[in-house]
Amino acid sequence: MRHLLSAADLDAAAAVRVLDVAEEMAATQRREIKKLPTLRGRTVVNLFFEDSTRTRTSFEAAAKRLSADVINFSAKGSSVSKGESLKDTALTLEAMGADAVVVRHGASGAPHRLAHAGWTRGAVVNAGDGTHEHPTQALLDAYTMRKHLRGGTGDLAGVRVVVVGDVLHSRVARSNVLLLHTLGAHVTLVAPPTLLPVGVQAWPCAVSHHLDAALADVAPDAVMMLRVQAERMDAAQGGFFPSAREYSRRYGLGRERLAALGERTIVMHPGPMNRGLEISADAADSARSTIVEQVGNGVAVRMAVLYLLLAGELPGGHA
Ligand code: ASP
Ligand code: CP
Repeated sequence: MRHLLSAADLDAAAAVRVLDVAEEMAATQRREIKKLPTLRGRTVVNLFFEDSTRTRTSFEAAAKRLSADVINFSAKGSSVSKGESLKDTALTLEAMGADAVVVRHGASGAPHRLAHAGWTRGAVVNAGDGTHEHPTQALLDAYTMRKHLRGGTGDLAGVRVVVVGDVLHSRVARSNVLLLHTLGAHVTLVAPPTLLPVGVQAWPCAVSHHLDAALADVAPDAVMMLRVQAERMDAAQGGFFPSAREYSRRYGLGRERLAALGERTIVMHPGPMNRGLEISADAADSARSTIVEQVGNGVAVRMAVLYLLLAGELPGGHA
């Protein structure tokens, strides 16, 4: 496959291959000299039209550790403020030569457009598009689960994951549901009806509006909290939930819910967190939280994705 646009691009063999190569990459990162010559002479362009801390820096670290040349582009401070379009921005950067283009954009479908409109010859990696998908986040989440669950055997078949919160605006939720389903895990989404997208019933997962009941019924191996995405909530539309306090009470992970989780259940969050809203400090900083580890795992996973795409060694995908 040439691009990674959706978690659905990966069949089980391709997903497992990425996760296995990520483990090999992580092993190289424990050495004193972390840099590998693998992508020497290749150019990776990071094209960020939306803000990012984790994804942008970890793609940059990943590309650099593989010895690629890296061009970082942020829409802020660029000619996008003069009205330049995605197409013209892409063509401009393409003129500098790009073997891979990592793109984050506020519009769902922008990476797909970039990949298929002929604006770049490079491999396109979706680093988050609108409310649509964030496939490398799902991969690093699955990688983190493989490390912690099932005694680290790497098999996620039958693993139970509860994903809680603002599913409506979350590209992380959709990509996780797709990838975890491919890997044989069972996902339950929990959210108020106002924060679920139209058509969620057709997703390969269960859906609930009641967090305590879902946690009791599912007895999850992992609980993934989602950020309440205020910047995507139209103030005029409003009414997604009555108040922050009420949201926390019904859908937040606080001390009491944390204490009621199974002994081995891990607590995940893609970040950035709204501490005190969807997750309390107790939960975020607890021994069972993998939140900081998820970020570190992102580097190895993104090294694997860049390497496999540029080496043309990602088989069995759909893109
Ligand atoms: N950082 C993730 C994303 O960009 C999740 C979030 O922003 O809540 O999708
Ligand atoms: N998890 C995630 O994508 O974080 P950033 O938005 O900071 O990249």
